[in-house]
Amino acid sequence: MRILVTGGTGYIGSHTVLTLLEAGHDVVVVDNLANSSQEALLRVGELAGREAAFVKADITDEQALDAVFDEHSPEAVIHFAGLKAVGESVTIPLDYYYNNVAGTIALLRSMDRHDVRSIVFSSSATVYGEHNPYPYVEKMEIGAMNPYGRTKEQIEDILSDLGASDSRWHIALLRYFNPVGAHPSGRIGEDPQGIPNNLMPFIAQVAVGRREKLMVFGGDYETPDGTCQRDFIHVVDLAEGHAAALRYLEDHAGVFRWNLGSGQGTSVLEMLRAFEAAVGSPIPFEIVARRAGDLPAFWADPSSALADLGWSTTRTVAQMCEDHWRWQKNNPMGYATA
Ligand code: UD1
Repeated sequence: MRILVTGGTGYIGSHTVLTLLEAGHDVVVVDNLANSSQEALLRVGELAGREAAFVKADITDEQALDAVFDEHSPEAVIHFAGLKAVGESVTIPLDYYYNNVAGTIALLRSMDRHDVRSIVFSSSATVYGEHNPYPYVEKMEIGAMNPYGRTKEQIEDILSDLGASDSRWHIALLRYFNPVGAHPSGRIGEDPQGIPNNLMPFIAQVAVGRREKLMVFGGDYETPDGTCQRDFIHVVDLAEGHAAALRYLEDHAGVFRWNLGSGQGTSVLEMLRAFEAAVGSPIPFEIVARRAGDLPAFWADPSSALADLGWSTTRTVAQMCEDHWRWQKNNPMGYATA
């Protein structure tokens, strides 16, 4: 298949492009490089032995998208491109709604004009909000708690309305839990700009000496060790989930929602200990105040993805840490060292 991947130079995007190339697909990546490096795609090409085409463009630019559809004739789209920092989304909500929501509308209009009506969308477990009991099940009523999450929810709504309006659309909404880890080669991985917002890249930067210590946000939650529990998923498992969803869409029209998670909760301290085991030395940390907006615990019910897609996670927390550490150790400053 020929597949257009928006945001294909980013963390999850680059791993997914590699999985697609390895499966024999042709890939064209559209990315504005706002928060990523083209170096990721060069390395993906080296690993796959074959390159993805690359077009530097913004998804809000319909003319640029039209040109990509005209030149590359993709048959399906995997849509990652978007802004993703929760805190920043509270400060600059218009940027989030414009890039994520208006950008998706531009993409869908361009797809429709070119008779391409298969799309896998990068959604988030954050759409489940704070009112749902865990494990989260796809049929639950969603309701995000911050502008970033609401962009994901609104895009899900737009795609659901589109699918209901025209039976030619094949739409997968993939709700990711907490993606971590890296390709086992250590060549590609997560490379956040500035101070990492998320747990795993922060731990990794402490381990490699870029930061002094991990701040554990809250040690007094009603959880077994007092720290929050999350459903961590290896980024290569996640990438394979996209390939499985794409296969499913080939012969299923409609709108489908799948959780991509392991179904298991791991606490912040358990993750820290697992990372220490991968590194082989202690990682300094301090328990500080809770972070606003954090939920004590949640994880996926991943049984729908298993039943429909034949997909489930296969990589352990230990592997997530070993692979993440290999990437960070070999690339202490991320792609900037290249
Ligand atoms: C966050 C977002 C979520 C988004 C996801 C991926 C919030 C509330 N949620 O998920 O919407 O889809 O990232 O971008 O921001 N932690 C520390 N110290 C740190 C960093 C994190 O203790 O330096 C803790 C957090 O308090 C949390 C856990 O680690 O308990 C996981 O945090 P994080 O990696 O940011 O993911 P989420 O908050 O689950």
